Amino acid sequence: MLRTSEQERLSAESYDDHRYRIVGGRPLSGRVTVMGAKNAVTKQLVASLLSDEPSILTNVPRTREIQTVLDMISELGSYIEWTDERTLRLTTPEIVNPALNERYSGVNRIPILMIGPLLHRVGKASVPLPGGCRIGKRPIDFHLAGLRGMGAEVVEQPRSVDVKTAGLVGAHIELPFPSVGATENLLLAAVKAKGTTIIHNAAVEPEVMDLIHFLQQMGALVDVQVDRTIIVEGVDYLRGARHTPISDRIEVASYAAAAVATGGRIEIVGARQEHIVTYLNYLRKIGADFDVTDRGLAFYRSARLKAQHVETDVHPGFMTDWQQPLIVLLTQAEGASVVHETIYEDRFGYIAQLNAMGANIALSTACLGGRSCRFASKDFQHSAIVMGPTKLHGGLLEIPDLRAGFAYVMAALIAEGPSEVRGTRFLERGYENLAENLRSIGANIEVLPAP
Ligand code: EPZ
Repeated sequence: MLRTSEQERLSAESYDDHRYRIVGGRPLSGRVTVMGAKNAVTKQLVASLLSDEPSILTNVPRTREIQTVLDMISELGSYIEWTDERTLRLTTPEIVNPALNERYSGVNRIPILMIGPLLHRVGKASVPLPGGCRIGKRPIDFHLAGLRGMGAEVVEQPRSVDVKTAGLVGAHIELPFPSVGATENLLLAAVKAKGTTIIHNAAVEPEVMDLIHFLQQMGALVDVQVDRTIIVEGVDYLRGARHTPISDRIEVASYAAAAVATGGRIEIVGARQEHIVTYLNYLRKIGADFDVTDRGLAFYRSARLKAQHVETDVHPGFMTDWQQPLIVLLTQAEGASVVHETIYEDRFGYIAQLNAMGANIALSTACLGGRSCRFASKDFQHSAIVMGPTKLHGGLLEIPDLRAGFAYVMAALIAEGPSEVRGTRFLERGYENLAENLRSIGANIEVLPAP
């Protein structure tokens, strides 16, 4: 067994290997397969650090993000083995280094989740800060307040957080907002803490529930109440577990929107209705439909597309990561659609390039279309008015972040004329074989070397 994985080293550096040349106008029809969700698998890689026994994860996607987190945990002491193309065996007999390298600062939000497991294994941790990003400030104050409440001594450095403890203890924690990451962080700390931890106003996204399922298989005692309170009774020891993470509901929503926008039919193998119920309702109201098939779900257009009002929200609401493909779809719908983003204050930065392609999307700092949100009366452009239908024409697109990246690819797929998409490293973080998948269902997409 090797300490670092022997397969291709997809490192954390920020460089592009590729750019895409896309000529739009073809309906996408055929079958694609989605694997385990990035936002579930990465947290389960961290959870495996809680035990010195081996854990097995199946259905793992081969993306940059997964490789980055594997690089991180192997530096901490994990042995990693791909036992087949999709199955990982992870063993951390001991933590050889509780200080994760600062070069991971700003790379992703996974290192802060390692604090709990490292404190349980060796009593101290130093992890790089996730940093701000192009969709909002994304602070970690809820994470740190919760950990302090459980007895962690936290010192914030400019690029990292240093933490130590004489032993974590159960606590009552009230999250100011049902943060996915903070809930996961506190779960990872609480499962082996002394006593009972109660997390009020917790996130219950399917990815959080999937982490709980994995932890429960490891021996944790976690109870989720109907009012989004999570009660964790700490245990002394966690064993290894074998788990198949849930499939990626963001990837599913992305391909589904592309099927409808291009007027084709895509069957998505591995898609699960129960993870995207809200999304399905909106698609149907816009003029699309779906079939439950033996392998997953199939999506297609069923009527003339018409405008809709959508508000992003915590689960079971309309997910913020579905917003970007939906907006591109709404550029093809008749009438004025309103999309109110209530999770991130700055998630419409990608709109300007869509307008440059011919879309007609206006942004507003007001809470449009529904209730008032946390960003009311603040100066954030967090509502969008999409006038449609608009013809899009090809353009040069520079991707600012993962989900906006899919929106650009989708816009290029329905645009007239060729487009060039740069910044593909963002897409490769979360979409496995995107260009190959799209080509296999009829897209005219070429992968060229980065400029
Ligand atoms: C997770 O981010 C996902 N990332 C995001 O997906 C997803 O958009 C988000 O959950 C919401 O579903 C991962 O799982 C790695 P949050 P997370 O904490 O956990 C505020 C993608 O492209 N907040 O639920 O970081 C925060 O600023 C990504 O795959 C605080 O104020 O999201 C935001 O406004 C993008 N203080 C809100 O809460 C805190 O300490 C929700 O964030 C923590 C969060």
